[in-house]
Amino acid sequence: MIYQFYQRRIFPHLLNQVMQTASLMDRRRELLLPIEGEVLEIGFGTGLNIPFYGNVDTLYALEPNPDIYLLAVERVQQAPFFIKHIQSSAEKLPFATASLDHVVSTWTLCSIAQLDQALAEIYRVLKPTGTFHLVEHVKHPDSAKIQSLQTLLTPIQKRIADGCHLNRDMERHLLQAKFKLIEKQYFDAEGIPAIAQKMLFARAQKLQIPH
Ligand SMILES: C[S@@+](CC[C@H](N)C(=O)[O-])C[C@H]1O[C@@H](n2cnc3c(N)ncnc32)[C@H](O)[C@@H]1O
Repeated sequence: MIYQFYQRRIFPHLLNQVMQTASLMDRRRELLLPIEGEVLEIGFGTGLNIPFYGNVDTLYALEPNPDIYLLAVERVQQAPFFIKHIQSSAEKLPFATASLDHVVSTWTLCSIAQLDQALAEIYRVLKPTGTFHLVEHVKHPDSAKIQSLQTLLTPIQKRIADGCHLNRDMERHLLQAKFKLIEKQYFDAEGIPAIAQKMLFARAQKLQIPH
């Protein structure tokens, strides 16, 4: 009962605040400004990416959690382009195969229960020339001490942060899903605790498998 109250009435507001940390907002801008035309964003959250889509005309905002999406509604109404909310999960995308030029994920892959299934779906819906744009917190690539802490704290983090995993090696999952990284940068986000501070900023395309 109390947990449900926390999840439905408190967590969405915490998320909305934390995700506006200045260093994260700067990375949203860098990731999203080059995107044009039609885009699918998975885990749309409270709509914090809207101001950074420079040349988008249609945004498919996939967000499964109605309590979180509620906090996006006002931003969606004021957006200067068309936004269609899709209440669905990334593990089963309601889009045709090879139909999209751009898919975006900002700090969403950590929360998806079946990550490999979701990556297979993103791969499926992207056109052969399409791009997956992402920025995510990751399993620390070097520090064994932080890696251990991430693994230790992930069960608690999942409870307090709506399924968020601290210890996912996103690059490995992407390569396994047959993406190639055409842009890749690891960085430490200012203002974020050490266990979730290491981030991967990347653009990925479908590996072209020779016939
Ligand atoms: C940490 S929040 C990030 C929100 C937003 N992308 C942002 O940058 O502020 C993770 C988001 O992923 C969503 N999410 C969780 N599981 C998901 C799934 N299976 N498919 C799509 N989105 C999911 C959550 O509801 C939440 O909105």
